[in-house]
Amino acid sequence: MKLKKSLCLITAAIMTLVMMTSCGSDANRPESAIDEAAPSLCEAFKDYFKVGAAINSWDLSDENSDKYKLITKHFNTFVMENETKADHMHPQENTYNFDATDKLCEYAEKTGATVRGHCLVWHSQWPGWIFKDGSEEASADLVVERMKEHITTIVTHYKGRIDTWDVVNEVLDGGGMRFSDWLKIVGDYDGDGDKYDFIEIAFRTAREADPDARLIINDYSLETDTNKAIKMYNMCKQMMSEGVPVDGVGLQMHIGIDLDVEQARENIKILSKLKEYNPDFVIEVTELDMSCFSWGDNSTTIDFKKIEDQFNEKYCEVFEMFMDLSEEGLLDSVVFWGFNDGNSWLNGTPEGRVNHPFLIDADLNFKSAFWEVTELPAKRK
Ligand code: XIL
Repeated sequence: MKLKKSLCLITAAIMTLVMMTSCGSDANRPESAIDEAAPSLCEAFKDYFKVGAAINSWDLSDENSDKYKLITKHFNTFVMENETKADHMHPQENTYNFDATDKLCEYAEKTGATVRGHCLVWHSQWPGWIFKDGSEEASADLVVERMKEHITTIVTHYKGRIDTWDVVNEVLDGGGMRFSDWLKIVGDYDGDGDKYDFIEIAFRTAREADPDARLIINDYSLETDTNKAIKMYNMCKQMMSEGVPVDGVGLQMHIGIDLDVEQARENIKILSKLKEYNPDFVIEVTELDMSCFSWGDNSTTIDFKKIEDQFNEKYCEVFEMFMDLSEEGLLDSVVFWGFNDGNSWLNGTPEGRVNHPFLIDADLNFKSAFWEVTELPAKRK
């Protein structure tokens, strides 16, 4: 009788063990993205590219906070979501606010991370004073002079600390050059027939201020809009062949769950031909996130569980493409525009929307996509 009972107990113990193992590694995976036993996202891709995140200065204010631990564990390059933009950094002609970005540079120096500067010239989040002379519109000369002063002061301040700059942001729209105050006022400044002049001056000024910084032209929808990718290629080709120091094109990649990755590859192939004009030319992924809502869908919530497989599959496809580009020597930096679902510019638009764009959820726990994506490099070997 006793023997029978012991045998039963042993069998039960063995069964439990077998069950635990057959649940697979999933069951044993840490839930929290700050768990020390968990793999690190940037470590997983160390042979391919840096993995970064857009953050805000308050993410750095407490070394013991979960967010601080999370970003330190998973990312090795950073950009400010808003605080390096002109409306924050240069709100008035003689006022510069460097504190927030200085804080990021100090953090990066302490942790061995690198920093991207976003962005020097943009039509948005720019203070109005630069385009005004009293109550009148400023002249082209005055705007150019102010733009040069802006770029020189900021790039010089961060010389050797910020190693990549988005020199101009979103200068194209679907049809061609975006109509902005920059374009309208500076126009064809050198009289050579094109209106790329504010861009050319911006790049030359940045190069002069820090000859070692990588200078990027950053834009959205280049991976989906072939016409825009061709426009970007043609514009950069002309500028680069005239010696304008463009080191790379930044693809923001605010993508949707229905992204056509083959199309993205084709568009990137067009841009990669710019290597002909600068052997060090690169593509950077600068603002990655993936909306879970299809284009044109204005609903505010979505049952993430229902689209989880599609989400994971798309993220894997996109990271496979990034690894290919890295192997071709074209890509060495992939930066997310945020780092957890709770903090993304995609939430709230339309009003009240809750999106799920990242690999880490709003509770700072891993989503299943994190595991699928981080396992990709090992599968290649
Ligand atoms: C967004 C920020 O995420 C928001 O917090 C802010 O209100 C508006 O700007 N393309 C860019 C980024 O180049 O600077 C934008 O960032 C997102 C789109």
